[in-house]
Parts: sequence; C-alpha cells; structure tokens
Amino acid sequence: MFSQREQFKPFESRIWLSSPTMHGPELEYVKEAYETNWMSTVGANINEAERLACEKIGCKYAVALSAGTAALHMAVKLAGVKPGDRVFCSDMTFDATVNPVVYEGGIPVFIDTEYDTWNMDPAALEKAFELYPNVKVVVTAHLYGTPGKIDEIRSICARHGALLIEDAAESLGATYKGRQTGTFGDVSAISFNGNKIITGSSGGMLLTDDKEEAEKVRKWSTQARENAPWYQHEELGYNYRMSNVIAGIVRGQFGFLEEHIAQKKAIYERYRDGLKDLPVKMNPFDAENSEPNFWLSCLLIEEEAMCRQVRGECDVLYKPEPGKSCPTEILETLAQYNAEGRPIWKPMHMQPIYRMNGFVTREGSGRAKTNAYIAGGVKGTDGRPLDVGMNIFQRGLCLPSDNKMTVEQQDTVIEIIKRCFD
Ligand SMILES: Cc1ncc(COP(=O)(O)O)c(C=O)c1O
Repeated sequence: MFSQREQFKPFESRIWLSSPTMHGPELEYVKEAYETNWMSTVGANINEAERLACEKIGCKYAVALSAGTAALHMAVKLAGVKPGDRVFCSDMTFDATVNPVVYEGGIPVFIDTEYDTWNMDPAALEKAFELYPNVKVVVTAHLYGTPGKIDEIRSICARHGALLIEDAAESLGATYKGRQTGTFGDVSAISFNGNKIITGSSGGMLLTDDKEEAEKVRKWSTQARENAPWYQHEELGYNYRMSNVIAGIVRGQFGFLEEHIAQKKAIYERYRDGLKDLPVKMNPFDAENSEPNFWLSCLLIEEEAMCRQVRGECDVLYKPEPGKSCPTEILETLAQYNAEGRPIWKPMHMQPIYRMNGFVTREGSGRAKTNAYIAGGVKGTDGRPLDVGMNIFQRGLCLPSDNKMTVEQQDTVIEIIKRCFD
C-alpha cells in the first residue's frame, strides 16, 4: 500500500474515534465532593448538573442517573410498557436504545432508516402503524448527533395516540427547528458516557416537563423508598441515581459543550472538503431545519466505488480493487496508522438477539434477511435497496472524530483515506 508516494508513519499517539476532553473545572467539582464528603448519590454537583441540563436543553426537569441506558429504562417504565407490548424502535442505533424495552418485557419492532438523516424513516413508521395499530410507544434516536425527522415522527405518534421516547444520547446540543433535541419526546434521555460530546465518564439523565414523572423517576432510581422511618417499599426500585462525584465531572463539562460542538463541526467540514473528490458522501443532515452536534463524522461510499466486502456474524473479508474501496479496507488501513474508526452501528434487525423481531420498511413488513443479503442487490420498487439500514451499514463508516485531533493529523487521516481509493 502507498508504494509510489510518501509513506506515512503511524501516529505516535492514537487518534481516537471520540475520547473524553477534560478542561479543569471538572476536577474542582470532584474535589469539592471529596472535601465536603458528599461522596454519595446526593449533593450539590447533582443538583447543579440537573439545573445546567434544564437550562441548556430547555426542559423543566432533568433527573441525573447512572447511565443513559438507565434513563431509557425509566422512560420505558414511565410509558407503561408491559410484558408482551410491541414497541416501535429505531433500527440503526446502539442497542441501548432498545434493550430497555426488553427489560420491561416489551417486544421491539424495528423501523427502517431514511437516507436524509440516517434516522427513523417516518414513512416506515406510518407503515408500521398500519401493520400494528395497537402500538402505543415509539423510541427514536438521533444517530451520531444528527437530528432525525422528529416533527414528522411526533405528529405520526400523536395521530396514533402513541407516546414518544426520544433517545438524545448522541445528540446533546443538537437542534431541530431551533429547538434542542431532548425536548421532543414525551420523555427523553441523554448520556454522559465517556465517548459522548460531553462526559461524566458515565452517567445520563431523564428529561421531562412533567413534575410527577420526574418525581417518580427520582424515587424509582433510589430504590423506591417510601416516606417512612424505616425502609418501606411499595414499588420495585432501582439503584440508578448518578453519583455526586460523576455529577462533578458533568457539571464541569457543561460549560464546554458549545466549544466541543464547534470543534466537531470543524472536523466534519474538514473531512467534507478534504474528501470531496472521492466517490463518497458525509453523513447527511437537514441543513434547513437542523443543526447537528457533529458528534461523529461518517462516510458513505458510492455503490459503484465499493470493492467486494462480505461480512459474516463476527468476521469480514474484502477484495481490494483499483479505484475502489470499502469500510473494512479504510478501517483496517486507519488502524495500521494508529487511528480509530468504526463500522456504522449494525442495524438492530440484523443482530442475532433481535433477528426474530418484526422489522418494517416503507415498503411494508419484513424479517431480517440472511447475511447473503448484505452483499446483495435486493431492490425496492423505487430501485433502491429495500433495507436502508443495511445498505448504510454495508457502505458506511465512522471516521476518527476526536476533538483533540490536530488539523495536521486530520490532513494525514484524509490522505490515508484517499489512498485507499488509489
Ligand atoms: C444512541 C444511544 N442510546 C443510548 C446510549 C446509552 O447511554 P449510556 O452509555 O450512558 O448508558 C448510547 C451510548 O452509550 C447511545 O449511543
């Protein structure tokens, strides 16, 4: 590889996909927790982190929890999902979006993805309500920090009397029609996992405008203790509250959210400009109505420029071809140079655990296809592949998007990617 032109040396320190970026105030708040001995799930950092989240996002209540997954679990419980209930869920997302449905005994039914924002396709959602008219809960995520078609999704939910849970774990700070993601769901969730736009090392929050719901989650997340002199329990409880130490980090990070977004946006734009002559596109967004937080920059390779790539359950093979490339070749090449990319999140309907669940495309109902399908060319009536999620999974990848990557390092990453197409 790269025989004719300048050889690059591997990066001395790893270029990460997206790693934590600390600034200093975080440590002060952690120290404060230590020095005042609020080393628990109560304390000023928790109160302040919740206040900052409400102020930034524009919701009335934020409940600080141990993880975004815990927030989604509490959201599913608030929505009243019962064993055997079907719940419509985003398909191309991280499994934490959908697992909480199963914690409550619900059955996820996956809704295909659209090409404009790589999120839940409103047309497929509408189709799903035709096929399963009794569904009362929808869980939708904003992938990679790009707002989905949330207005349309909301109005479809309203028309069918369904509650909307918004998974804004990856999209904190992103807006749709000027409004922050995290305010569109009947209940919403954010995450402070170590790879997110701001982090507590872990942690998450449930967001709502409903005081009673916020109080319920505060109670459930602290073992559902009743107001009694002893441990009194009428409901099932959870140990889901955020620690005051973690909250100190979150509290310190909030002031840097906009700075991180600006850095991520610059990274996205540099990739877009630097790769413009290749047969690739960046992950798209609705520029008229939305402003992503640009958490991860991604690429989609044009179909004609894909070399052959076949993925099994846990292995992959590809055949290099002049003028063409594939996500695996690019990811393996980046890894050789000590840079971390990642495949697109593999759609849920293709995950072994969810393979037997329902899956709805805008063309109608389908079940997961076999792996042979992954490399195949099954087309819908509009000439496009039936399953948008698998098509993006096959051709797309997440690029190193760490906000500590220098311009020079990114230029080298761009050059490495270009040479994969030589
Ligand atoms: C889309 C999405 N939903 C939910 C989560 C879960 O958040 P957490 O890791 O804080 O539990 C994550 C990330 O981890 C995510 O990317």
